[in-house]
Amino acid sequence: MRAARIHRYGPPEVLSIDEVPEPEPGPRDVVVEVHATSVNPVDWKIRSGGQRALIHYRLPWTLGLDVSGRVVKVGSAVTRFRIGDEVYGSPTHRRPGTYADYVAIDERALALKPRNLTHVEAASIPLVGLTAWDALVVGGRLRAGEKALIHAGSGGVGTFAIQLAKALRAHVATTTSARNVELVRSLGADEIIDYRERRFDEVLAGYDLVLDALGGQERDRSLRVLKKGGRLPTMIGGFPEETKKRGVVLGAITATLKLASLHLRAAMRGVEVYMVLRESDGRMLEAITSHIERGAIRPVIDRVFPLEAIAEAHAYSESGRARGKIAIAVRGEGS
Ligand SMILES: NC(=O)c1ccc[n+]([C@@H]2O[C@H](COP(=O)([O-])OP(=O)(O)OC[C@H]3O[C@@H](n4cnc5c(N)ncnc54)[C@H](OP(=O)(O)O)[C@@H]3O)[C@@H](O)[C@H]2O)c1
Repeated sequence: MRAARIHRYGPPEVLSIDEVPEPEPGPRDVVVEVHATSVNPVDWKIRSGGQRALIHYRLPWTLGLDVSGRVVKVGSAVTRFRIGDEVYGSPTHRRPGTYADYVAIDERALALKPRNLTHVEAASIPLVGLTAWDALVVGGRLRAGEKALIHAGSGGVGTFAIQLAKALRAHVATTTSARNVELVRSLGADEIIDYRERRFDEVLAGYDLVLDALGGQERDRSLRVLKKGGRLPTMIGGFPEETKKRGVVLGAITATLKLASLHLRAAMRGVEVYMVLRESDGRMLEAITSHIERGAIRPVIDRVFPLEAIAEAHAYSESGRARGKIAIAVRGEGS
């Protein structure tokens, strides 16, 4: 079968399409015939070596953390799925990934694919959906009537998080640039700040929650927007950025110190920092499916690439300009 792998860390060109053996399922695994996957920024952070301080990969390594496809084999202890089921999910980053024709995944990471989505649409959901759920529901405890600021509302996580926050009946402000104003408005954002024109911390105050997708100065300024008792779920550990600047060891130390400083400054303001963690959790994904099937959340896909163009898809994601998600059709256009 085909698998898009890296043999060394580096630029998009290190991705190569290799012929590799098909995976066999462990007792709790199903083997999924991959119809579609997607690109997430963490994929190119791994590819470039930015995650080396956090996890050691044995190269060559198959990337990819989203899947939508069909179950073709089941392990001896599998109880939730049968051969032929259409499933989607975001498997753990500790096993070979989904940029491949087939992938073996623990059944507990999967859910049945939403009935109203194609595979390409479904593959755009799991990682960003589970991340937004962890940020807003688990760590953020966002409630009806509360005010939430979602940074980078036009990105993969942001487009999902705006819709989830609205489904939770919160008031939603978001930051984006002028070209994406209509997009975030169509997703339900109540207040839109063009970050190239205005500073969000000069117009917003008294917020219950800020979802940090940016880190750096924006995160520091976000502390000012939150009221006492407010929550700051952050998706940015800072390890890839610091590793790039200072190398693995010094980078890890710097990132850790910056996070400690953030926690301290937040505590002094009575604000809670929550480190967002995407869980490979099929049950959580079922809760997301119900929002999708009742039409409260829809996928937002910017571009679809074939697996052969995976390097181009990475370069596009790395540009930082994607609007919603970048999907990969593994079994042809229709997938
Ligand atoms: N911890 C976790 O579990 C976890 C999970 C998922 C993602 N993440 C991280 O969270 C970050 C966001 O992920 P993503 O998938 O949403 O990224 P993405 O899709 O690549 O984000 C692209 C979007 O960011 C917007 N943007 C860029 N700079 C901005 C700024 N200064 N202010 C407001 N918007 C800005 C761009 O809009 P314009 O073109 O209009 O500027 C673009 O639409 C990444 O660093 C990712 O690695 C962490």
